[in-house]
Amino acid sequence: MLKFEHVSKIYKTGTFGGKELHAVNDVSFEIPDGEVVSLIGESGSGKSTIGKMILRLIGITRGTIELDGVNVGALKGSELKEYYRKVQGVFQDPFSSYNPIFKADRIFQVIHDEFYPQVSAAAWTEKVETALKDGGLNPEHVLHKYPHQLSGGQLQRFLIARALLLDIKFLVADEIISMLDASTRIDVLNLLADLKTRGLSILFITHDLSLANYISEQAVILYRGCVAERGITEKIFNRPLHPYTRMLIASVPRLDRKWDTEISVETKATPLGALNGCVYAGRCPLAFEKCKQRPPEVEVEPGHFVACWKVEEI
Ligand SMILES: Nc1ncnc2c1ncn2[C@@H]1O[C@H](COP(=O)(O)OP(=O)(O)OP(=O)(O)O)[C@@H](O)[C@H]1O
Ligand SMILES: [Mg+2]
Repeated sequence: MLKFEHVSKIYKTGTFGGKELHAVNDVSFEIPDGEVVSLIGESGSGKSTIGKMILRLIGITRGTIELDGVNVGALKGSELKEYYRKVQGVFQDPFSSYNPIFKADRIFQVIHDEFYPQVSAAAWTEKVETALKDGGLNPEHVLHKYPHQLSGGQLQRFLIARALLLDIKFLVADEIISMLDASTRIDVLNLLADLKTRGLSILFITHDLSLANYISEQAVILYRGCVAERGITEKIFNRPLHPYTRMLIASVPRLDRKWDTEISVETKATPLGALNGCVYAGRCPLAFEKCKQRPPEVEVEPGHFVACWKVEEI
């Protein structure tokens, strides 16, 4: 189980790092073994920041992230290497994850040298081919090629195959589906479902609500670095309670509706949204004086948490 406890990330910005940007603000949630948890929020809400903290690509400002009781932030040397054997990420833009001057084979060679130097060349080639096939790829079509010679979908499956080769337990999937066409999307989704049946846990980062609903057992709705609502996906989608979640769900375009008949979503600009208070108050139609204080997370039904002062009324 991967556990977030009161995690915050503050980026130092400005010329001399004199300004602070609160990208993630006191976030707590858990990702049980073998489950997919989707992390939903608009651009800039802190989703990738959370993924990067899990992958130790950036530090944690406050709070702790634990994997099976071990503090991820404190790992060093061989422990960190062991961690990366279990935890890997696949990102939004598969091109940026690759060094363009290395052929695809080289990516696997690096894993061999780093993690499995004792495996013979022949056995390794077989392992690589199995992982590629498990990732829905024909090894002949992708090996010996440069990244730019592969399609976006191939690259993403390639990265998943790489994760498979490491026999990982936890995958951070950051917007991996967004840039794929509909049929490739289904392939990658099915691949993820398959990985799940093998016991892999996934943090599925997305701003696409229908994808999140389709793939995850649990969902975390993030707004400006704070959790608005979280819990069992079905409960959140069937009975969204936070005004932000309700707005998000109401604004999903539907196949059976034309644009001009789309329900307009009520929002208003109020001076109430502030870091110490409810961060959504500045846009919330229900905001009132109390929203100047940060609302606590309340468990409104088993496995369904909402951070809103008006939750009783809703
Ligand atoms: N290295 C950095 N230094 C300073 N600010 C950063 C850094 N990385 C991200 N930010 C800021 O932190 C906030 C959260 O960024 P993040 O990338 O986590 O958002 P996101 O939810 O992944 O957005 P998107 O959906 O656009 O990918 C943004 O305001 C962003 O500008
Ligand atoms: Mg992002």
